[in-house]
Amino acid sequence: MPEMGRQVSRARALTPPAAELFGRQRELASARELFTATRLVTLTGPGGVGKTALSEALSAKLDRAFRDGVWFVELGAQRSSDTVAEAVVTQIGLSAPASVDAEEQLRRHVADRSMLLILDNCEHVLPGCRRLVSALLAASTELRVLATSREPLGIRGERVVAVRPLEIPPNHRVLTADELCEYPAAAMLKARAKAVNDQFEITDRTAAEIAQLCTYLDGMPLAIELAAMRLRSLSVHELLTHIDDRFALLTSGDPTVAPHHRSLDALVRWSYDLCSSTEQLLWERMAVFSGSVDLPTIRAVCGLPPLQGTKLLDALDGLVSKSIVL
Ligand SMILES: Nc1ncnc2c1ncn2[C@@H]1O[C@H](COP(=O)(O)OP(=O)(O)OP(=O)(O)O)[C@@H](O)[C@H]1O
Ligand SMILES: [Mg+2]
Repeated sequence: MPEMGRQVSRARALTPPAAELFGRQRELASARELFTATRLVTLTGPGGVGKTALSEALSAKLDRAFRDGVWFVELGAQRSSDTVAEAVVTQIGLSAPASVDAEEQLRRHVADRSMLLILDNCEHVLPGCRRLVSALLAASTELRVLATSREPLGIRGERVVAVRPLEIPPNHRVLTADELCEYPAAAMLKARAKAVNDQFEITDRTAAEIAQLCTYLDGMPLAIELAAMRLRSLSVHELLTHIDDRFALLTSGDPTVAPHHRSLDALVRWSYDLCSSTEQLLWERMAVFSGSVDLPTIRAVCGLPPLQGTKLLDALDGLVSKSIVL
C-alpha cells in the first residue's frame, strides 16, 4: 500500500486556495455538534448555495479531530453510480489491486482508521454513494462521512444540515456602508468585487443599491460571485439596470471553474437534468410563481393532468428533496 499523506486530497488540482468564508457560523457549529452524535452528516441545498465551500471550511476545522486525517473526494465528474468506489480509491491515493474490488478495499482501509471522508457532489450518483457509505460505516466504528448533495442520501442515522442562501440586508431601512457589510451577502459581494477591481468601495451613498443587488441575487453565493465579476467593468447602478436578464449577464469565462458553475443557466440545466420527467413538468408549471406559495395554490395552478392528486404531491416532494423548491 502506498504511503498515505494526511493532506486533504483534492480532485480539482486547479482549485485556488480556500477563500474567506462569509457567514455560516450557525452551519459550522451545527455540523460539528452533529458529528458528536452521528457518523454521517449531509449538507443539502440548491446548486451554488455554498455546500462545497462549507465542507472545505469544516474540513479545516475538523482536521485535528481525526487521527488519520480528512479526505476530500470530488464526485462531480462521475457519470455512473458504479464508479463511486473506484473514484474514492483513486482520490484518497490507494492503488487498486485487480484482485480486490474497490468497495472491499475501502472497507478494509477504513476499518481501524479514525478519519473524515468528505464526498462532494453526491446528487447525481446518489445510489452509488448510498451503497458505499452504508458499507463503509458498517465496516468501521470511527469513520465519519460528510456528504454534500442537493438531496439527502437517505441512510439511517444520517443528519442533514440545510444550507440556505447568505443573509441579505433588509430593504425597509437605509444602512450605512459599515452596517451593510455586517450582512454576509454584502460582505462577500464587496470582497469578490474588490478582487477584480481594486478601486471598488461601498460608500454610504452606494449602500442602498448594493442592498438591492444582494436582494436581487437572493443571497446566492454563486450568483454573487458572477455578479461581482461584472463590477470589473460596470458600476453597481449600471449592473442593476442591465440585470433584468440575469441568465445572460451572470456568466464567467473562467476555465478553472466547474462547467455547471460558469453561468446560472448551466447551473439550472444541471439541476433540471437530475429531475424525473414529472418533476421537470411541475418545475415548468411552478415557474409562474415568484416568492412563497401555498399547497392549495400549487394544486389549483399546476395540478392539471398528468399531475393530479398524489402524482403532484410526489413530484413536489421530489423538488423539495432536490433543493429546488425551498
Ligand atoms: N459563505 C461563502 N463565503 C464565500 N464564498 C462562498 C461562500 N459560499 C459559497 N461561496 C463561493 O460561491 C461559489 C459557489 O459555492 P459552492 O461551490 O460551495 O456551491 P455548491 O452548493 O457546492 O454548488 P453545487 O451544488 O453546484 O456543487 C464558490 O466559488 C464558493 O467558493
Ligand atoms: Mg458543490
